[in-house]
Amino acid sequence: MTNNIFSKDILQGKVAFVTGGGTGITGGVARAFAEHGAKLAITSRKIENLEAMKAQVEGHGGKCLAVAADVRDFEAVQNAIAKTVEHYGKIDIVVNGAAGNFLCAANELSPNGFGTVVDIDTKGTFNVCRAAFEALQQSKGQILNISATLHYLATPMQIHVSAAKAGVDAITRNLSVEWGPHGVRVNGIAPGPIEDTEGMKRLLPEPLKDKITKRIPLGRFGKIADIENAALFLASDAAGYINGVTLVVDGGQWLKGTSFG
Ligand code: HXC
Repeated sequence: MTNNIFSKDILQGKVAFVTGGGTGITGGVARAFAEHGAKLAITSRKIENLEAMKAQVEGHGGKCLAVAADVRDFEAVQNAIAKTVEHYGKIDIVVNGAAGNFLCAANELSPNGFGTVVDIDTKGTFNVCRAAFEALQQSKGQILNISATLHYLATPMQIHVSAAKAGVDAITRNLSVEWGPHGVRVNGIAPGPIEDTEGMKRLLPEPLKDKITKRIPLGRFGKIADIENAALFLASDAAGYINGVTLVVDGGQWLKGTSFG
């Protein structure tokens, strides 16, 4: 549950299409958007990853359409966007959160392993933005791309994700310039280490957690609610003149000159 910093109606009447919206950080963002008035469409490769979120949102009186789509498959993405427009009549906000990740040393990673993560994160983000453009142009909507700070320095075992997220940041900047004139704002969020996520549980061995905590200027891991709050702000009218920004939400971690590794 998000805190009460924002008025509960800041996204009233908005329709948000959220990839990876069933679980993890983007699941939190989706739920927070619904708590603040947005109607949701959530997508993931597997419909079963969406059902718990759909039930939770509807249990609180919200609206949630669940559509299975692999973001790597442009036709499936187009279909999910079309279903959302058919269901709600429009799309105001797109959140690109679907991401692939595993730890692997560069000299052991296969080209297909590298390409798979780039396809999910980078090409997937492009596919969704591209498919949603017409709807967003009509609504004067906006896009929020979730990336990471991994590529600001160098993160061992994460060459594939670092390259993929650098590409996501490039998409944010390019589209903000190309689509701003169409009335579409494009921004991003780069989360640092966020606790209670599948990614952190799987990717960060417990002994490393303490070591990393000591290196975070704010002295703690982020919470999913920290990302929810940043997303609510960027999605709200309060951010109406913010375009092309990737907001780092990491407690100052990367600036300290240390990486995750
Ligand atoms: C090495 C691996 C691997 C691993 C897959 N591959 N897992 N290589 N180590 N652990 C390789 C495979 O061998 C294969 O290459 C290629 O990747 C494709 O594998 P598939 O299993 O066929 O692909 P697919 O099922 O489409 O997707 C696999 C996946 C995905 C990318 C691993 O299932 C996934 O990411 N799931 C986790 C989702 C997740 O946790 N998302 C949150 C991310 S958190 P070959 O050559 O053998 O064919 C995040 C935050 C960043 O991104 C910040 C964190 C610090």
